[in-house]
Amino acid sequence: MQVIKQIQVSRWDEPFTNDIQSEAIAATESGKILLFPTLPFTLTPDEQRFLSPIYVDSKAKNISYNSVTDVLRSAKCSEEEYKNLKAMLQRFSTHATLLVKHLLAPYASALRMGRTSYRPIEISGRVSSYRKDDTRLHVDAFPATPNQGQRILRVFSNINPHGQERFWRVGESFMGVAKRFLPAVRKQLLGERTLLKTFHITKTYRTEYDHIMLQIHDRMKADLAYQKNAPQSDVRFAPGSSWIVQTDHVSHAAMAGQYVLEQTFYLPVNAMQNPEHSPLHILETLTGRTLT
Ligand code: SIN
Ligand code: FE
Repeated sequence: MQVIKQIQVSRWDEPFTNDIQSEAIAATESGKILLFPTLPFTLTPDEQRFLSPIYVDSKAKNISYNSVTDVLRSAKCSEEEYKNLKAMLQRFSTHATLLVKHLLAPYASALRMGRTSYRPIEISGRVSSYRKDDTRLHVDAFPATPNQGQRILRVFSNINPHGQERFWRVGESFMGVAKRFLPAVRKQLLGERTLLKTFHITKTYRTEYDHIMLQIHDRMKADLAYQKNAPQSDVRFAPGSSWIVQTDHVSHAAMAGQYVLEQTFYLPVNAMQNPEHSPLHILETLTGRTLT
């Protein structure tokens, strides 16, 4: 399968015909990456000073912004810089929202805003535990914020000023991943979800769906033979390009690159045109159980 669907656009608020909207929805729901090769997010001359890894707190890999609480996290800077960094992330968040609402218009009323992130640290050579190592193929699943079956839809933009691509590997279909790793998933223990919530390890209940997705995420990353031998292709995102991907069903690994902005959205499964493509429906079919 072709993993990329290219869409020519040069403005974040560009209107799209119904045909392009339908094609984009069908492509993203079937596991393709929507790539906008000529859609740069341009920094203001003032913002260009943030093109450096020094603004990230040493314990974090990203700077993140929560538009609901208006809080910027993991930034290491002066008060003035904090204000300007926050404005930069806010502006990206607004641009990403415009793009998604125009291109994926049928989703618009159902989308919930997630975090905005700025990733100024070079990925290759970054050290972390295997679970946090995004250079290994995985599908996204968040330990602390269960999404209870909702889709994870992300908008990325490569703002690298030195001509450096963001280099990903993209793996097999979610069906392939699920069939391979489901047999190894351990059962969720009785009372586990209540315990996790009571001790604030998770913000809401970790449903059986979230449990299975996390197990699949961890087992994919732990399996070095799978990392090497799984069907996969290289994808390179040039500076000045942007892309949309539902990272809960697209197996991906970010191998190299520096300076990317990202906006996360959550989409309820019933807002999809073809809910049977969702990881929730695929896992429910394979297990024969209701998982949320
Ligand atoms: C990831 O979601 O695994 C990382 C993607 C990126 O930062 O390019
Ligand atoms: Fe990921």
